[in-house]
Amino acid sequence: MWRAIIEVPNEKIMVRFLTIMGMNKTFVHGNVSASKLSNKDITSILCKRIEDNIGFYFPETAEGGIKIVGKSWGGTGTGRTFKFKILLADNKKNHDIFVKISPIYEKLNPGTSEYEALKLLYPQMSLATKCCHVPRPLDFFYDLNALVTESVGSKSFKGYLLKNNSKKCAHKSTSNLYSMVIGCAHWLSAFHEITKSGMFVKFESSQFMETFKKEFELLRKLGLIKSVIDRIEILLGRLPLLDGRFLMPCAMWHYDFTPGHVFIEDNKITVIDVLGLPNAPIYEDIGKWLSAMPTVNSFPLYPHFDYEHANGRLGDVFLDGYLSRTTLNKNEFLILSNIYKLKYFISTFVAQTSRISERVHPIASKIFVRLRLRKIFLSNMLRTIGCISERMKLFA
Ligand SMILES: Nc1ncnc2c1ncn2[C@@H]1O[C@H](COP(=O)(O)OP(=O)(O)OP(=O)(O)O)[C@@H](O)[C@H]1O
Ligand SMILES: [Mg+2]
Repeated sequence: MWRAIIEVPNEKIMVRFLTIMGMNKTFVHGNVSASKLSNKDITSILCKRIEDNIGFYFPETAEGGIKIVGKSWGGTGTGRTFKFKILLADNKKNHDIFVKISPIYEKLNPGTSEYEALKLLYPQMSLATKCCHVPRPLDFFYDLNALVTESVGSKSFKGYLLKNNSKKCAHKSTSNLYSMVIGCAHWLSAFHEITKSGMFVKFESSQFMETFKKEFELLRKLGLIKSVIDRIEILLGRLPLLDGRFLMPCAMWHYDFTPGHVFIEDNKITVIDVLGLPNAPIYEDIGKWLSAMPTVNSFPLYPHFDYEHANGRLGDVFLDGYLSRTTLNKNEFLILSNIYKLKYFISTFVAQTSRISERVHPIASKIFVRLRLRKIFLSNMLRTIGCISERMKLFA
């Protein structure tokens, strides 16, 4: 239960990002308001539709008898996912399908945005880098604002990371882990290469800080240690020194590029939940990933997870992997990646604590911060602050 509460992205924070980007929030549902239907009703509506279209999705199933069974896979209200199994009569190769129902905002429909992104990426990703994929988009039900995709399996990189980035793991499993992290970096660089807009934005500290101002203000209230907040504040105060120095390439923004959205099977790396916002600095996705690896929350499992390694060496392996596929200036790339990483440590800390506060109780969140989150976030943040300060000397 804890993991479900902690890790689902906080909708309030998403809405704030969208507002800052001029895509503000008002909620408008599609024709049929899916939020009013029960999971059972939606499952049976979707079963019928999938059955009607199954010959288009999987032509080989058109002939024989099939059976479709579905169940709710998570989420509530306007954001829900369902999983369907297509069972073939001859028991040969069954198929799994996911259907994700999304809310609609005034200036952004995450459902259609993801559908368009997948239609663009599906034929191109594997051409760019052989092992890199996105799920096959099968359909979009506009009345339910529901995206239909083919399953990419059940082995998420998050599970692999939790198991293998352990203080107790042998050398061999570490080298496999590095190959996977490099694969994830290649996926992201291919994604950015395919979707690059050709535009560059100048790094301007005030604009950058505006995107997480509210989260930064909440750090004190949510119980992060004062001395660390002071150090972040000092560092942010020095960021104007970098104003106008860097041009950041822009491409499509995955928005939630984290180990939980990467699936690994048969040497294929497939990334799901591609929101696909246009024309954002590549460092948004890079920073998110770098902050997500060392904050992957397994409470109360995996007590030997090596947070320091995930924050240090694994992050470096990822950055080297991404950089090897580009012609970006290394020093610029490393300082910007770390600056964005710090931003995402801040917003992830706020998202995790406020979610517990909302779903369980504010006192539970305070206890969780003291007993667990401080341990994870403080050293991660301090190390990143140190790294940025060191790199700033190159540009002083
Ligand atoms: N094509 C797919 N193949 C395999 N699993 C999938 C697929 N689509 C969705 N899932 C499963 O459903 C879950 C939710 O999907 P997704 O992340 O796209 O939706 P979401 O609304 O962003 O949910 P969350 O808030 O949990 O991230 C995934 O974590 C994954 O377990
Ligand atoms: Mg998701």
